[in-house]
Amino acid sequence: MSTAQIYELPVIAQGMGTGLPSLQNTEISANVVDSIGNTPMIRLSRYLDLPNIDLIAKLEASNPGGSAKDRPARRMIEEGLKDGSINAKTTIIESSSGNMGIGLAQICRYHGLRFICVVDPNAQAQNVAIIRALGAEVRLVTEPLNGDFLAARLALVKELLDGIEDSFWPNQYSNLNNPLAHEFGTIREIDDTLGGAFDYLFVATSSTGTARGCRDYLAKRGRHTAVVAVDAAGSILFNGNAGPRKISGMGAGTLPDLARDQHFDDVVRVSDIRCVAGCRRAAAREALLVGGSGGGVLEAVRQMQSELVGKTVAVILHDSGVRYLETVFNDAWVEKELGCSAGDLHTMANSRF
Ligand SMILES: Cc1ncc(COP(=O)(O)O)c(C=O)c1O
Repeated sequence: MSTAQIYELPVIAQGMGTGLPSLQNTEISANVVDSIGNTPMIRLSRYLDLPNIDLIAKLEASNPGGSAKDRPARRMIEEGLKDGSINAKTTIIESSSGNMGIGLAQICRYHGLRFICVVDPNAQAQNVAIIRALGAEVRLVTEPLNGDFLAARLALVKELLDGIEDSFWPNQYSNLNNPLAHEFGTIREIDDTLGGAFDYLFVATSSTGTARGCRDYLAKRGRHTAVVAVDAAGSILFNGNAGPRKISGMGAGTLPDLARDQHFDDVVRVSDIRCVAGCRRAAAREALLVGGSGGGVLEAVRQMQSELVGKTVAVILHDSGVRYLETVFNDAWVEKELGCSAGDLHTMANSRF
């Protein structure tokens, strides 16, 4: 039997100093919702191949629900409560098995609202478990509609909205409170921290809420920062060609209302395997676990790095790799779904661009 070691802590008499410097940023939020935002920013000095590029990442995984989606989820619900389209008896209905589902489950639970989340069999079991743990009801669509699970999920959302009196569909793909949450939050925090002194902002896109909100704020502030939209290969956003996509959170198969007629300074497309390589590289070089879209954003920067020497580049990393342990960080999944062996992936993640 091994004996557990006991470490004695010095007893500090009340009122006596510890001799340690006082801690900064130890404010107590009033509640979980109030702790959304003000996420940390860190410098990534080991990720790129070329020197003299100041790469700074905003870690949205530090939101209490684990992603950037906490912000629009909060704003869509709280603005609805303010303008009366949501009241204490309203049922919130949304189709999402990812970060938005989790963000909505969190904000709805906090405000005591009933939330029904519509998912399909492709939903990651872990995400559905989190949504359930936060008290949401989950409705599973089992059959695709005309071969399409998204169409089937939206059909069930409509059926539920029609059948439940006093129900509300946040619809992140057309709700302007989605980009506004980032305009008033994410990008303001980045801009304030950097004093407006950054040349590029790289943002992953799906609804385009994050990228739109950031671009609009920077334009209103008269900043000259170039906003680069990072999209998935196989996404139809920005006139892309539809194709298979395996990384959740990035890209779109149908054009969201929010994405119509939206233009950014540049669009970079990243393949699924490049996203995975980016995640593996960030873990290996920076000891940072990022989600699939974050890996894609970092690889988009690396792809453009020869143009970025001498520049300050900010990136938004939407969530953590913890949500992708069974996919992006699982060699067997990568081999099966993306046809890339562990050896080839290692080479890709470690070689120069
Ligand atoms: C992990 C992740 N990255 C990026 C995005 C893209 O954000 P947006 O919908 O604001 O374009 C999402 C959106 O769902 C996401 O979940």
